Amino acid sequence: VKDKIMTGQKVLITAGPTREAIDPVRYLTNHSSGKMGYALAKAAIQRGADVTLITGPVHLEEPKGLATFIQVETAEDMFQAVKAHVDHQDIIIKSAAVADYRPAIYHQQKMKKSDEDLVLTLNRNPDILKWIGMHKKPHQFIVGFAAETNDIMENGVSKLKAKGTDLMIINDITRSDAGFQSDTNQVILVSKKGEQQQLPVMPKSQLAHIILDNIIA
Ligand code: C5P
Repeated sequence: VKDKIMTGQKVLITAGPTREAIDPVRYLTNHSSGKMGYALAKAAIQRGADVTLITGPVHLEEPKGLATFIQVETAEDMFQAVKAHVDHQDIIIKSAAVADYRPAIYHQQKMKKSDEDLVLTLNRNPDILKWIGMHKKPHQFIVGFAAETNDIMENGVSKLKAKGTDLMIINDITRSDAGFQSDTNQVILVSKKGEQQQLPVMPKSQLAHIILDNIIA
């Protein structure tokens, strides 16, 4: 167990996927399990931090010792929860895989199928991390995740700049021992100064502590 080196620090973590309903039966989502975000929440609690966890629908138990636990479903819900809690936070870690689009129309009743193809119109969801970056307070430290399948470094670095984050955790999700669902992960850390740190494959619980060490440093 780590020393209580984060006592008094307020940490906001988002985790898991969001779910964007089409009708009462169907929804759009992604493969996020929430494991990385929950591991970060547990590690920060172990270090004595005051942790707020905002989570999409996942199959994980609520970590013990949280200051605040908020369960949301959609990207819009997550955005509202983040806006309500972000002001007094010192560290914000956005590990959630937020859906970029939602169905333009929510059908109150189950959509009936026909023999024809179906075209769904999608609307853009708010980019929560970008909003946090734009409204960042001087004392706040912001961490983002970039799940990539190609041009990993290039995409990760441009996201760091576009979103106004201090640290970006870049994930190659084409590997089976890293990224979504897996209990292990393999990432590259990129700081605002351009420092890069390639880490080996390791359990998400161990990676969580290394990420926190980097934030504190
Ligand atoms: O979707 P993208 O690859 O740009 O996501 C990178 C980072 O942005 C992640 O940390 C994710 O949590 C955050 N994000 C967000 N709101 C979105 C989409 C992504 O906060 N609508």
